[in-house]
Order: sequence, then structure tokens, then C-alpha cells
Amino acid sequence: MTTQTTPETITLRTHLKDATRGAHQQAEEAVGLNRWLETRETYADYLEKLWQWHAAYEPAIVIQLPEAAKSFAIDRLPQLKADLAALGRNVPTPPKASVKLASPEAAVGAWYVVLGSSMGGAIIAKTAQKKLGDVPTAFLADPTVMRQAWPGFVGYLSTFVDPSKFASGEEGANTIFKSMQDHFSK
Ligand code: HEM
Repeated sequence: MTTQTTPETITLRTHLKDATRGAHQQAEEAVGLNRWLETRETYADYLEKLWQWHAAYEPAIVIQLPEAAKSFAIDRLPQLKADLAALGRNVPTPPKASVKLASPEAAVGAWYVVLGSSMGGAIIAKTAQKKLGDVPTAFLADPTVMRQAWPGFVGYLSTFVDPSKFASGEEGANTIFKSMQDHFSK
């Protein structure tokens, strides 16, 4: 008897995950997590660095999202600001970044990177608490993102099955991975 397997449908979700593996690896290396998890102060520096990027880029991306994706544009900046305040840091809101995304699919690809980064964030939060004790992690381990926004957005990405849209989604995702990589390389 032969076993038949149904080939997995390629959607924008599966495409983005496969196509940006290398970009993820490079961004992760640029962040160089260990240097930020040495002390409570370096952890605060890490959140401050994240704040500079997220507060500048998120609004610029969200405004370009198609209407159907807006419900996944959850705003976690208040959590990030609160974590920083708990660590004794008051940070100014940076000016909105200029991000030119060529199409609605590119904006969707860009948001995939922003929201998806919270998957690693949850792991980083656990590691930080293990190493540093009770540090605030409302931004990195936001349960609303993990239980609602991310699964919902993954479902939304899976509705894109037209391969002609994949290249622009990938381009948007790579633009954002690269900008995060550059931000942490400075
Ligand atoms: C700083 C070190 C980082 C670590 C340790 C890390 C770790 C991880 C891990 C373990 C996952 C998979 C989670 C799961 O499937 O349950 C993941 C997913 C993801 N990460 Fe990271 N990450 C890091 C940095 C970043 C950065 C800087 C970005 C982008 C700005 C990013 C974007 C993403 C995205 C988009 C996904 C979702 C992949 C998918 O399932 O399609 N990560 N990360």
C-alpha cells in the first residue's frame, strides 16, 4: 500500500516563513541578544533600542496596511513604554520613520515581521527573567499578541494563495528585517 500525502498549499504565510529564514538569521545575529541580557541596565538599553525602532516604524507601516489587515495592527507601544518606565527610563517618541511599501501586500509582509518578532520576544522574555530576575516583560511577552493577534494574522496570511502576490509580500518583509538589522548594527 502506498501512503499518499496531500501537498501543503503554498500561501503567503508559508512563503514568507521560508523566504525570510536567512533575513531572520541575519537580524538575530545583528541584535546579538547575549550582550543585552547581562544586567538589568543592559536589558533596559535593549528595550530602549527596541522602542526607538518600533515607535518610529510601526505607525509608518500600519498606515499602509489594507483595511482587512487593520484589526491585526495591535498597538503594543504603551506596554513597551510602561516596561521602560518600570526600569527608570523615560524615552521620547522618535519621529515617524519614512517607509515606502510598494503595495498593500508589501505592507502585509512588513507587518508579518513586526508581529512575528513577538514570537522570539516571548522566548527572550523568559530568558531575561531567568537570568535577571523579575524584569518587566509586558512588551516582549504580550499574551494578546500570542493568543489573538498573531494566530489571527497567520490565518489572514493563509488566505493569500495567489503566487503573483508573494514577491511583493516578501519584499516588504525583507525591507523591515533589513531595517531592524541596520538599527542594531549602529
Ligand atoms: C533577538 C533574537 C531573536 C530570537 C532569539 C528570535 C527567535 C525566534 C523564534 C524562536 C521564533 C519561532 C517561534 C515559534 O515558532 O514558536 C521566531 C519567529 C519569528 N521571528 Fe524571531 N527572533 C529574534 C529576533 C527577531 C527579529 C529582530 C525579528 C524581526 C524584526 C524577528 C522576526 C520573527 C518573525 C517574523 C518570526 C515568525 C516566523 C514565522 O513563524 O513565520 N525575530 N523568532
